Amino acid sequence: MLKDIVKNLEASSTLKINEISRELEEKGNKIFKFGFGQSPFQVPDDIVNELKVNAHQNKYLPMQGLFDLRKSVAKYTSEKKDYNYNAGNVVIGPGSKELMFLLHVIFDGEIILPAPSWVSYAPQAIIGRNKIKTIQTKRENNWFPTASEIEKVILKDKKKNYLLFLNSPNNPSGQICKNLEEISKVAKKYNLIILSEIKLN
Ligand SMILES: Cc1ncc(COP(=O)(O)O)c(C=O)c1O
Repeated sequence: MLKDIVKNLEASSTLKINEISRELEEKGNKIFKFGFGQSPFQVPDDIVNELKVNAHQNKYLPMQGLFDLRKSVAKYTSEKKDYNYNAGNVVIGPGSKELMFLLHVIFDGEIILPAPSWVSYAPQAIIGRNKIKTIQTKRENNWFPTASEIEKVILKDKKKNYLLFLNSPNNPSGQICKNLEEISKVAKKYNLIILSEIKLN
């Protein structure tokens, strides 16, 4: 009843680590968890209260998300990144995981995936039936792909569309990407699309 593509997927390693560490904890072992990054912070009271006050609302929202929220996100991002975004450039989703999955569904081309990378990127690409080109990152390059490594992948077939996944601070290495400028030049040159999970200061 299930598609082979789904049956052949391995269980998420972070979920596996979590289950194993819970079992060990139940047996009385002291465990320091590095599995997934669950927020240790309480949900702020004003957010909890706003959610309570608005829980009665049951109307469908615009597909892209609330217009006022998109406008605020565009304003905030424009100020932060010194660029001119508008509400039309913004889509609101329940989490980045789902939005990334939708990108795999609509994207026609190949995924350039630095390795190692976050555990869900590759399975999502496989379910979305996108081919993955892996770039094995190196310690001497701060665990990020270099511009020339990316260019090498693209030059193998320039006719294809490519989507590069870039994440900084990086899961799992924890490193900050320091070669964004050289990567941006390659992206411009070949019209490379980047799924950017990058937090700039
Ligand atoms: C790099 C990276 N992207 C995305 C996600 C998922 O984020 P969300 O909770 O917004 O779906 C995670 C969660 O661990 C992550 O490490």
